[in-house]
Amino acid sequence: MQYIVFFDKRFLRQSINELKSITGESKISKYLSDSIIIVDTGEKEADLKAIYDSVFLYKAEELLFEVDVSSGYAGLEEKLAGVQKEKKYQSSKTEVLKETAIDERNAKSIEVEIGTGMEKYGAKIDLVNPSAVFHIIINGGTAYVSIAGSSNAYGATLDYFRHRNMDKDILENGISRAEFKIQEAMGYFDIKIGKGFRALDIGAAPGGWSRYLMKNGASVVAIDAGRINYSAMPENSRIAVVLGKEREIADAEGIDVLDMEKLDESAKSYGLLHIKELFENIKISELVKLGPFDIMCIDINIPAQESAIIAAVCSEALKKGAFLILTLKMTDDRIEQAIAKSKEALGATYEGMRVKKLPHDRKELTLFAVKI
Ligand SMILES: C[S@@+](CC[C@H](N)C(=O)[O-])C[C@H]1O[C@@H](n2cnc3c(N)ncnc32)[C@H](O)[C@@H]1O
Repeated sequence: MQYIVFFDKRFLRQSINELKSITGESKISKYLSDSIIIVDTGEKEADLKAIYDSVFLYKAEELLFEVDVSSGYAGLEEKLAGVQKEKKYQSSKTEVLKETAIDERNAKSIEVEIGTGMEKYGAKIDLVNPSAVFHIIINGGTAYVSIAGSSNAYGATLDYFRHRNMDKDILENGISRAEFKIQEAMGYFDIKIGKGFRALDIGAAPGGWSRYLMKNGASVVAIDAGRINYSAMPENSRIAVVLGKEREIADAEGIDVLDMEKLDESAKSYGLLHIKELFENIKISELVKLGPFDIMCIDINIPAQESAIIAAVCSEALKKGAFLILTLKMTDDRIEQAIAKSKEALGATYEGMRVKKLPHDRKELTLFAVKI
């Protein structure tokens, strides 16, 4: 059987190694790009769940067929309409990824043409709630087709194929690209933020993760010496800032200014409490006073192992069973070593550790763990 496998070219070596360890003797039959391959597993079915649960691979989808499209898409449209009928899907939609430029147009307009063509062959297209999503990779005059979405339980939340399926609120109101990372992490690790959740966000500026957490019902203590975009936070949020050494604030309108030494229970009533200070200048006992937290998120631009040490040190401020979301930045090619060292730093205070390269992660991975 043949599968299309998606990963990130920044982790090519690790991805291929991981794929080989999951699929055994399988052969890579084609590179569709430096981040998409076709793998042939012979008679064996690939373990799609193991691939979804892996560190570096996003997902794998069974290759349905490939077809020549160098002189047009009619043959592809007819075949797709046939599959919809044969598999008894009520409706479908297509998502096109264009790897090489045999067609001047962008993927979106090719997709519209294919959808319209499929309808001529009797298929029902439903862009909002399709029974199946066909993934079409166009590469060098050939279209490679797989099915994703509802029929493929693993990978539905890992939207590598099309970053364009992005959350409208984040696109329109988001503070930073980083918001997509936390959204992906919440989906992949299946974390639900409840009302009344207390969150600690370290390395929070300009505030994307904090906004996401607040939007979903958490109250947030955000630590960063940098500026947070207070005006982009959910409407009617009560916001306070504790000024650090620099003692300056950019837009203080409607923002309470508090003193670190005088923080008490009332500080917990803020939707966002920004401690405008470097992490190392804050006493852990102060964080413990502001807790206990249900979730801690750390997205600091320092090497993975150092972030892990911060997570270990701050674990004192977390509830038992609290979630940790930690970005592991890879500063060189010793990827496996950085992961191992980070896990080692966390081992005494956290359990259930999982690491995943999420689609919006760059040269970094996301670690999930639960406070012991
Ligand atoms: C990638 S950004 C975080 C983006 C953020 N998660 C968001 O969604 O907008 C990394 C942040 O880490 C902060 N940072 C770096 N070193 C830090 C330290 N020692 N203590 C606290 N924050 C730090 C930087 O100021 C920067 O704002």
